[in-house]
Amino acid sequence: MKPELYREYPDPQEAAGQKRLLDLTMRTLKQKYLTGPQLRDTHAKGLAVVKGTFAVDPDLPADLRVGLFATAKSYPCVCRFSNTDPNPKPDLSRDMRALSIKLMGVEGDMIWQDDREAKTLDLLLMSAKTFMSPTLDLFIELQELLLKAYMTPILGNASLMWFFLKNPRIAAGVMKAEITCANLLELPYFGETPYAFDKKVVQYKLVPHKDPTSRLPGSDAPFNYLNLRLREDLAAGDVQFDFLVQFQVDPEKMPIEDSTIPWSETLSPPRKVATLTFQKQTIDEPALGTTGEHLSFNPWRTLPEHRPLGWVNRVRLPIYEAISKFRHLRNSVPVSEPRA
Ligand code: HEM
Repeated sequence: MKPELYREYPDPQEAAGQKRLLDLTMRTLKQKYLTGPQLRDTHAKGLAVVKGTFAVDPDLPADLRVGLFATAKSYPCVCRFSNTDPNPKPDLSRDMRALSIKLMGVEGDMIWQDDREAKTLDLLLMSAKTFMSPTLDLFIELQELLLKAYMTPILGNASLMWFFLKNPRIAAGVMKAEITCANLLELPYFGETPYAFDKKVVQYKLVPHKDPTSRLPGSDAPFNYLNLRLREDLAAGDVQFDFLVQFQVDPEKMPIEDSTIPWSETLSPPRKVATLTFQKQTIDEPALGTTGEHLSFNPWRTLPEHRPLGWVNRVRLPIYEAISKFRHLRNSVPVSEPRA
């Protein structure tokens, strides 16, 4: 059966898989963090918290004036850069890098919001263009093996190797996604999964204005060199990124349910809708341990026009909610969204 444009195809077994994944994620956190601060299940190492503005472009054509992008307005935002690995490692390690953007002062009811007075909208982006697993079952199997590798490294790593041998496409995707990074401000970032754009469907992309001129440091690089470089760059001046949306134009070549397939930019070139600016600023190191670690991002904290789509997004909703609650409870910090 040929899939239809803009349409989701949920698996009837999805709710059971979602519950299994939530249980597994909670079990992982409880087994890993018996004492000390409770970190995130993934994206455990925060690299920097940066303030900025997210300005919707003026004079957008009618088909782009949707939801958040309907009005040419500038929103203050707070952003958290992170490495994706569940265990904090030196920045020189291969990893996926992430940028979470929290816009403040956004009018309208979000699909999901845990702080009723807040007017925040989140955009979650990664340095990889695609997600690692085509199906929920394979994703759960992989997460189970990662926990096993953490608890019993020799046996667990052998099982992980076997999984990657059986699933070479996932192995190749992970190898491609895990990159070394010279400078966080020189990377493009992607939403990886589809989102509604009113009646249509898009993926998000963020492109840096800054040329990739930074070089990887040597093996004696400081543990946190990505933070140090970002601080240096933002102390010197403003840094900008373009935010773009890429429309789904072919339901087979640009699927909604399989986020391991990259959407071709030849078939559908991304179109610019906003500019993210990090104004010249001094990055305050303590803020990384306070603001950054206490923030929570959730792709469902968005307007109904931008509803997250596909199995990856559907299963994320209860997991991010539960993990954030649990993390804040364990750290004795109230769940609260920043105000503009
Ligand atoms: C089924 C798939 C996924 C699961 C189960 C999952 C799970 C999680 C969890 C548990 C956290 C930590 C939340 C917290 O403690 O507040 C997290 C954070 C994050 N996830 Fe996912 N995720 C998934 C897919 C994705 C995808 C496709 C992206 C692509 C953009 C993504 C981007 C992020 C980012 C950027 C963060 C860090 C947020 C922050 O800075 O606080 N995730 N994810």
